[in-house]
Amino acid sequence: NEITNREAKERVAREIAATAKAGDIIGAGSGSTVYLTLFELAKRIHEEHLPLEVVPASQEISMTCIQLGIPQTTLWNKRPDWTFDGADEVDPDHNLIKGRGGAMFKEKLLIRSSGKTFIIVDPSKLVNLLGSKFPIPVEVFPNALPYVEKELYRLGASKISLRPAHGKDGPILTENGNFILDTCFRYIDASLEEQLKTITGVIESGLFINYDIEVVVAG
Ligand code: A5P
Repeated sequence: NEITNREAKERVAREIAATAKAGDIIGAGSGSTVYLTLFELAKRIHEEHLPLEVVPASQEISMTCIQLGIPQTTLWNKRPDWTFDGADEVDPDHNLIKGRGGAMFKEKLLIRSSGKTFIIVDPSKLVNLLGSKFPIPVEVFPNALPYVEKELYRLGASKISLRPAHGKDGPILTENGNFILDTCFRYIDASLEEQLKTITGVIESGLFINYDIEVVVAG
């Protein structure tokens, strides 16, 4: 099943890369599906001498672009014509939970700044209700942690965990120097994304409600 999933993702990655045109500015989110699509884009850049630039959503994806020889630019210089990204959960209305990799702030910024966004997922990401498999990651300014926790409980959070770092003691730090609170809610209301943003100290959440996206399911 893993192999079929991977093959299906590779096929979609090729299809998405095939839509790239000369001169395109393309936003790239993060995750394994993004990696596969960048790989297919790199092939076209080198084989067809296709001039295009990628705006990466994270340092990891920026390093991948360097390894694959893909030219990069930033949101300061250019606005992406289109963006591609993955997701952790997709509901029937195409609302998303993202942020397993901790890059949801820059991913959201990229999607908001783009003309059009493709979200590439395998069928395991499709859920009836958001929050069934993944908590909602919330990026928090470190000094605001106690206040934000209190406010999250007030908004109806049932469980909050400070995401631990890998390979070092203490909590994980995002590329922006912040903490991540993985937050479970018994009920996810359509207004929750906005409500989270009103808490002072919350940088961004991994909830994406009513975005202008096209979901592409691999397989
Ligand atoms: C990263 O922060 C997430 O939002 C990713 O988009 C998500 O985890 C998808 O990853 P895969 O493409 O590896 O499933």
